[in-house]
Amino acid sequence: MNITARKGELAQIQGDLLIVGAFEQAKQLSLTLETVNAMLRGTLEAVMREENFKGKMGQTILSRTDGSLGAKRVLVVGLGKSDELTLEGVREAAAVAFQAVRSFRIRHIVSELFGLDQEALGARDIAQAMVEGVRLSDYSYGKYKKHKSHTIKQLEIVTPSGRDANAAHKGIERGEQFVKGTVFARDLVNTPASHMRPEDLVAAARDIAKANARVRVRVFDRERMERMGAGGILGVAQGSDYPPYLVHMAYKPEGRAKKKVALVGKGVTFDSGGLSLKPADYMMTMKNDMAGAASVLGAFCVLQELAPKAEVHGIFAAVENMPSGKAYRPGDIVTAMNKKTVEVLNTDAEGRLTLMDSLVYAQKEKPDVLIDLATLTGACMVALGEEMTGIMANDAKLANDLLTAAAASGEKMWELPLEKNYKKLLKSNVADLQNIGGKYGGALTAGLFLQEFVDPNTPWAHLDIAGPAFAERDINSYTKKGATGHGVRTLLTYLESL
Ligand code: BES
Ligand code: ZN
Ligand code: ZN
Repeated sequence: MNITARKGELAQIQGDLLIVGAFEQAKQLSLTLETVNAMLRGTLEAVMREENFKGKMGQTILSRTDGSLGAKRVLVVGLGKSDELTLEGVREAAAVAFQAVRSFRIRHIVSELFGLDQEALGARDIAQAMVEGVRLSDYSYGKYKKHKSHTIKQLEIVTPSGRDANAAHKGIERGEQFVKGTVFARDLVNTPASHMRPEDLVAAARDIAKANARVRVRVFDRERMERMGAGGILGVAQGSDYPPYLVHMAYKPEGRAKKKVALVGKGVTFDSGGLSLKPADYMMTMKNDMAGAASVLGAFCVLQELAPKAEVHGIFAAVENMPSGKAYRPGDIVTAMNKKTVEVLNTDAEGRLTLMDSLVYAQKEKPDVLIDLATLTGACMVALGEEMTGIMANDAKLANDLLTAAAASGEKMWELPLEKNYKKLLKSNVADLQNIGGKYGGALTAGLFLQEFVDPNTPWAHLDIAGPAFAERDINSYTKKGATGHGVRTLLTYLESL
């Protein structure tokens, strides 16, 4: 299906279906609805009344037009209250509208830009949000199940002004890239761990570099990591039959880069817990423990196309956490790349051990900004639920920039504190640190643990995506059960803002 934009009169354009938005409690119909209703000699208003259509977000009605309009049918979708419409509402409404008609035997859909007459949202952003809503709602993980296809060939976004049509065109292009990155991450995370081994994550990075001249990749194998002293990554990897890798991707923009950003992801391809074995219920979804790395890869797969002005480094350790006769044990002491020692009291707190080395490595690049994404703690899910990222940062501006980018992307994020007084919970009798805190505040002690490996002068943010990375039930009309690709769109929005 192609999504395009053009200037034109909505009611005139030929097509199988016209989609128009309607606000709740509106005193009068929008100009488009008014026109359409007049051409239908009041049928639309009659159907709205009969079907008790109130314009509530996601409510839809469908009417035939019997030749009185360019399009053969019209679908009206509710946008909620006019002063409450956000880009997230636009995504929702676009997804609902598309899902309402995707099984029809139609080829060509024409749609307006939802809520453009409200003037709070611009044509470019609305178009981008519509692309995201439509495409992401239509995602399914297809490799192991046959994908049901639809007959719709074209979605044409039509607006009366040429300027808005141009802006919408730009928004569509941007939306397509945001979707591509998100879908890339979803596919990586949805792939069973038997087919998404550490070497498969490495292959994904290499494929991106091969397809994008501005992206390079370096891969360090076990032997190289031994020389580098990456004791955390190597310790976690000990129990697995699959060898670990440290992956370093770099994107260089054209011309002088304004900023250098390092993105670090947790890339545990399966987290059984190791010898501190997880109970079955908790292990069920643990193929998702590489979602941080997947978000970094998702962003990287579209960086060249989006061309942000920042130089971006993407770093992740690809490793599996398994129990075996060779596995690292509770009580073992591992040494990080910066020589700090860590007493491993629980082999299931492995993410921070792979991240400490990844963070130390990332800082060799002297980044202006350091951001990590990790499915790090169940405690973060206890605190914020399944839909929200917990952000912890040593720099207020960076935290705010990321919160702003997340809000614009429709990815929920809430700040948690790096409480100094809890640092004592990580004290060990035999090493510089231990890898678990106390019974309470597990998301915070995990963040504090990572902070021990970050130079205080480097603005750093830690995103705990344990909840939102993987949906155990449908979240909204465009985020269904399974991997969500959460984080990709926030990262891209943030990078483009630099
Ligand atoms: N990968 C898990 C965290 C997780 C839980 C991610 C649920 C996604 C969904 C992590 O490695 C882990 O096991 N953390 C432990 C830490 C504890 C042992 C200190 C946890 O959260 O229980
Ligand atoms: Zn774990
Ligand atoms: Zn884990």
